[in-house]
Amino acid sequence: LESELMAKIDAAADETALEELRVHALGKKGVISERMKSLGKMSPEERQEAGPLLNGLKERVGTAITARRDILAHSALEARLKAETVDVTLPVDPQPRGKIHPVSQVFAEIEAIFADMGFSVRYGPDIEDDFHNFTALNFPPGHPAREMHDTFFFEEKEDGSRMVLRTHTSPVQVRTMTSEKPPIRIIAPGRTFRCDSDQTHTPMFHQVEGLVIDKETHMGHLKGTLEAFVKRFFEIDDLSTRFRPHFFPFTEPSAEMDVAYERVDGAIKFGQGDKWMEILGCGMVHPNVLKNCGLDPDEYQGFAFGMGVDRLAMLKYGIPDLRDFFSGDTRWLEHYGF
Ligand code: PHE
Repeated sequence: LESELMAKIDAAADETALEELRVHALGKKGVISERMKSLGKMSPEERQEAGPLLNGLKERVGTAITARRDILAHSALEARLKAETVDVTLPVDPQPRGKIHPVSQVFAEIEAIFADMGFSVRYGPDIEDDFHNFTALNFPPGHPAREMHDTFFFEEKEDGSRMVLRTHTSPVQVRTMTSEKPPIRIIAPGRTFRCDSDQTHTPMFHQVEGLVIDKETHMGHLKGTLEAFVKRFFEIDDLSTRFRPHFFPFTEPSAEMDVAYERVDGAIKFGQGDKWMEILGCGMVHPNVLKNCGLDPDEYQGFAFGMGVDRLAMLKYGIPDLRDFFSGDTRWLEHYGF
């Protein structure tokens, strides 16, 4: 019996099998316990001989089971450690990394530059009413300037008015002047919409508006602010600029700002040179606009400007086709993103 039990103990493959064996040998109805019970029926002489033998057997089997259990527990731990080993020298799985869209990047650059000059940021809705997009900005009813903008109109409402997709960020000027007290120094980044599409126009594009209103603001402030801005934006200290007279209904006088460039091996190089690139529109806020927004033109003046962000991104980072900005091609973003 002993050699049979011992062989089984040695062969027990896991702790469950070993526990079954223990019950089989030493449990209340186990083979050894049954033999112990038979001691009672023996004569004193027989008992004296069989008793120590059985006790010895019980003890040795118990010890063997405990020893086997230790071995099994140990090797179970070993197996787990082995299975859970991490090879830290293996290369990691390549994870695709997102990139920042050039438009987002340029928005952030513009905001940082104007933040340093004390401007804060305002937002307005993409869907505007006629008052904020046109009327308050001194576009007379039926004026050709309204058509110039290739406006996306919504369906007429019962009162005959039509909402529009804002054609520029200038309505944020109106929203700011009608809800805040001067001094005002804000920029308004956002989406704008015009029914237009070619290599440099998309129906949805981006602008940053600027507005400064105070008591003694003049054209010199406008020029100084915008010259400082473009120099930092293009990261060129001796960037030549010029202001060219222009027309906007909501500014008087109005101007467009150009930066000088030359062609070097076909590529645009900003700074000096005899060619001029239009960068933004600007001007002194028209007295009618101030009045439409509840400000007294005899007390307050200011300047405003608006720039095309997509165009600035194309120029600064040499991106050829505007339509690719919004085609959602991840290879394009991989190449031009940040
Ligand atoms: N809103 C004008 C445009 O979209 C730009 C502009 C803004 C011009 C503010 C002057 C002042 O073309």
